Amino acid sequence: MRMRISPSFGSAMASSFTVCRLHTIGRGSLVKCLQKVDTFLHRNIGTNVVAVQEEKNGFKSLNAVQAERQEQAERSVLISCHSRTNEKKFLKYIANYGDIQKYFFYESYGMYAVVEFANQESVASLFEGTAIPSISHESVVPFKSRLLSMRNLDSVDLPNQPSGKKRQAQTSIPINELIQRLSKEESIDQQITSLTEAYQLTEENCRLRFLVCSLLKDIAAGFFPECTIKPFGSSVNGFGKLGCDLDMFLDLDGISGRNATIPKSGLFLEYQMKRANLERIVTQNILSVIGECVDQFGPGKILNARCPLVRFAHQPSGFQCDLTANNRVAMKSTELLYLYGELDPRVRHLVFTVRCWARAHGITSSIPGAWISNFSLTVMVLFFLQRRSPPIIPTLDHLRDLAGPEDKSVIEDNDCTFVSDFSKIQLESNTETLEQLLCEFFEFYASFSFRTLSINIRKGKEQNKPEVAPLHIQNPFETTLNVSKNVNASQLDRFVALCQESSWLIQQNNTAPSRDGTKGKATITPWGVSTLLLPSQVAGIKTRKRRKFEPASERIKSLLESLKNTNQQNQS
Ligand code: GTP
Ligand code: MG
Repeated sequence: MRMRISPSFGSAMASSFTVCRLHTIGRGSLVKCLQKVDTFLHRNIGTNVVAVQEEKNGFKSLNAVQAERQEQAERSVLISCHSRTNEKKFLKYIANYGDIQKYFFYESYGMYAVVEFANQESVASLFEGTAIPSISHESVVPFKSRLLSMRNLDSVDLPNQPSGKKRQAQTSIPINELIQRLSKEESIDQQITSLTEAYQLTEENCRLRFLVCSLLKDIAAGFFPECTIKPFGSSVNGFGKLGCDLDMFLDLDGISGRNATIPKSGLFLEYQMKRANLERIVTQNILSVIGECVDQFGPGKILNARCPLVRFAHQPSGFQCDLTANNRVAMKSTELLYLYGELDPRVRHLVFTVRCWARAHGITSSIPGAWISNFSLTVMVLFFLQRRSPPIIPTLDHLRDLAGPEDKSVIEDNDCTFVSDFSKIQLESNTETLEQLLCEFFEFYASFSFRTLSINIRKGKEQNKPEVAPLHIQNPFETTLNVSKNVNASQLDRFVALCQESSWLIQQNNTAPSRDGTKGKATITPWGVSTLLLPSQVAGIKTRKRRKFEPASERIKSLLESLKNTNQQNQS
């Protein structure tokens, strides 16, 4: 129940909340920090997203998940608070404005709290108690948003008393710690599961992503009141790692008039914006206006504003954000990846492990270049799983054949239709373990004929390569395009060489070393998946030579010898 606010208490509260003012100091360093994708800032808090989804009966389509989370985000506020803010007092204070459904604290550039109210009216009530700060030596932009700052800290802070807040671990564990953690597991399957748990987005991180979209929508709604901003890519496709960027899609289709019929009144709305012949130019205009607002009035800093996206650093969340418009095909790819990830848990586990392995060896990078992208790598894992016998996941053509009329989707002449009703999909009974699959993945791509064949998840079969690019992965929906067009021959060579090395390494180290009673005290010997994350000797190769299935280098041999020796010493 909402409590009534007494006039005196109300005025006290009015002085406690301020709409966050703009900080310009230190933005340069903020930008630098955010460009490092794996920095500690991005790692937040809490339980995992999958667990939440599994609580519900059956599968939920991505659209349903998105709608639910968007609605939650609209009832939420982001409050910048003091690191010593006392949790109990804070909650008591906030509860005066309405029922709190959920809250959590996290640390980015300062301490923040996300508070989700039971209904939207509470947000409005909270707004009534806010004021724009007046600062004598600074000019302030009078911009109001759901990003608030709690200023009158005396009323909520308990001096000299440690805060009771459950601040969840800020950072996802560094690679060395991950290696140690995995080395303690009993089997490779457990290592893979543990890796996924350590890296996947948490429930809170996921909520924060939707809240950032919702806050940005508030800005965009100043121009386009009925627009929506939705996350896509790894923030929602089930393969997101803590610290991944936040891809956002500005959806104007509902108001674009693209499919509008002539109204009875004969009246059309005229937006206060110049017309342009090309959709690309219109998109660019729209994005640059919104980007400018974020930069000038919102808590973000533009990093790059080249069409078709505006990239900015969102200070309170620590996310690097990519805002695009008219990118419906990418939304469909996101839905498809989500569906595959939901069909069989092995899909997500394998994708996480391969992504982590690739990142550890610099096969993928946060900087654009001739590297294999995470998206391409994910498609490669999906293709491999389609090639198992029996296949673990169906082909995209099969998913299209199962689609009903409600699933029909054609975007810019591309057929993006596939089934959304999970219950129509019959899976074959493949019982391979994660360990088998990981070994087979490396073997599969260690000997794949990249020179002549293309990877194609639509058909689930290798196709002849239609062009000369070193790596050809057919875009699932825009079938004439190659999603890995950027990859050069030396990057592909590194990938193949690492697959060969890893295939050998995992076979040599597939059993956990026996432990003595000093467990926890002795140095833990890397084994299984841990050994795959250790620095490689072949990662730097430049030439396009075929390597045989044997130890990739003398260094690896001696590394393994030393691992065995350490293990024996520990046992003795
Ligand atoms: P990370 O951000 O690296 O964690 O992965 P991501 O899947 O989010 O990749 P990225 O941010 O590069 O791209 C976002 C989404 O855009 C992807 O998930 C895809 O849905 C889509 N996408 C990315 N690259 C391509 C591409 O080359 N072709 C197509 N059709 N879609 C792409
Ligand atoms: Mg992304």
